[in-house]
Order: sequence, then structure tokens, then C-alpha cells
Amino acid sequence: MKLEEIISRIEELPTPDPVVQKIIAVASDPNASAKDLANVIRLDPSLTVRVLRLVNSAYYGLPRKIAELSEAVMILGFKTVRNIALSVFTYSSVVRRKKSSIDHVGLWKHFVGVAVASELIAQLVGYPNKEELFVAGLLHDVGKVTLEFVSPEMFMAVAKLTKTLKISFFEAEKKLDLPNHALISMKTIERWGLPELVSQSCGGHHTPNTFSESLYSDVICMVHVSDFFVNAIGYGESYSYGGLELSPYALNLLGLKPKMLTNYLGKLKEKLATAEEFLKIEQEAVV
Ligand SMILES: [Fe+2]
Ligand SMILES: [Fe+2]
Repeated sequence: MKLEEIISRIEELPTPDPVVQKIIAVASDPNASAKDLANVIRLDPSLTVRVLRLVNSAYYGLPRKIAELSEAVMILGFKTVRNIALSVFTYSSVVRRKKSSIDHVGLWKHFVGVAVASELIAQLVGYPNKEELFVAGLLHDVGKVTLEFVSPEMFMAVAKLTKTLKISFFEAEKKLDLPNHALISMKTIERWGLPELVSQSCGGHHTPNTFSESLYSDVICMVHVSDFFVNAIGYGESYSYGGLELSPYALNLLGLKPKMLTNYLGKLKEKLATAEEFLKIEQEAVV
């Protein structure tokens, strides 16, 4: 199967619905107010409930309960609230599709893990746009879902090979002569209209050195390192059973020394413990 064939079918995969599209647009509009963004979210009552629940979760550690959406937008910022809405969409419409054989609970946990890890590493290296890292981490492997959507048989063949040979999903794709899921992620995200920073960092997460010319090479490296550690600690199911290596190029570019990585790993485990609410995204809130 060729990449073009997969790309031509990406259009059939759910795309962000009009409310989420509008949230993405308003969140990147410098003239929009907190009220504008809150008004868009309110168009979808179930999204509103979920956003408020996540806003009040341990992950954001706010000192008091927030009941008003516009207040949440003011405190957490446009991009964070957009991320929360995107998380709800990604889980409900993309990862958890009916008629899919994916372990959606496990894969979602991997997505959340890498989102949290990427946002954390951005803070560690002092990258100013940490919210974009959350989305990049969240969506880095969305190409696996696209592949399963286009060809469940191919997906299962890759998943089976990773287990038998104890290799990564990326290596198994290579052995089966399939286009890799990182590129498929990139194409899927381009279609969703998210910033290039996000699509590129997903596209290069297994081969950061081949994206050294990219404007976003630092971001690509951050997602790569995050993915490695989330796999290493076995948080969630990524359908990789070995074979993932930490790129020396990425460590070097980010200036990450072994001591910093140990420190990062400790913080990551703490932060992941606060991300529980993201794993329960589908449950109706008890108000
Ligand atoms: Fe991957
Ligand atoms: Fe991954």
C-alpha cells in the first residue's frame, strides 16, 4: 500500500466538527476575547461539561473550582482550552471509533502520556510555546489510527510483527514496506488544519535527524524524546515492543544531559499521576 493511497482516504476519517474547527480558529485569533472562545465552546453542551471537568482536574492544579468557561479561558489561556477541546474530539471521534480493533484505552493512554511528557520537556528546555507541544505529543501517533481505518488488516499485520519480533511499530512498517505512521500522522494533521509546528513534529518523531532542516527541528526532537520515555516506562499501549532508540542527535540538539533526563523522568511520573482525568474523558461528569 502506498502513502498516496492512504492520504486519499484520510478524508473519510472524522475531521474536527464545526465547533472544534471554530475553537481552533478562535484560539489562534489574536483579536478574540476569552468570552468569544467560551461562547464557541458553549455551542456544544457535552463538550462544555468535559472541558470544565478537565479544567478542574489535578493536571492543571488550580487553587479553586472554576465554574465559568470564560474564567477558565482567562486563567489557563486560549491554547490550553483549545487543547482540552481537541483532546475530547480526538478521543471521542478518532481513537474510539466503533468497528475498530484498536485497544483504544491503551492507545489513548499512550497519546495522553506523550502529550504530558512533551509539555513537560518544553518547560524543561525553556521552550516558550509549551501548549503546542501538548497537541504535538497528543497526536504524534494518530497515523496508527489512520492506518487502521484505511486497512485494519495492514494494521493488524504490523501489530502482530511488533510482538513476534519484539520491534517497534516503525520498524515493523519498514519490514512490511508500508509508509510509516509518522508521515501518515503528519498528513492527517495537515488535513485537520492544525499549525505546521504540530504536523511536522509528528512527521519526524521517529527520525528527528532527517528533519534537521525543519524550522521545527527542536520541537520534533522534544516529541521524539517524550515518546521514548513514555514507552520506556510502559505507560499505555503504543504497539511497539522494543527497538525504540533515543536519538543522540535529539539529545544533543536539546542540550539534554543524563542528569537532566533522570530529573525529567522523575517529574514525568509525578505529572502523569495527575493526568488521570484525561484518561476518563468519555465519562459523563457528575455535576
Ligand atoms: Fe510513533
Ligand atoms: Fe508513540
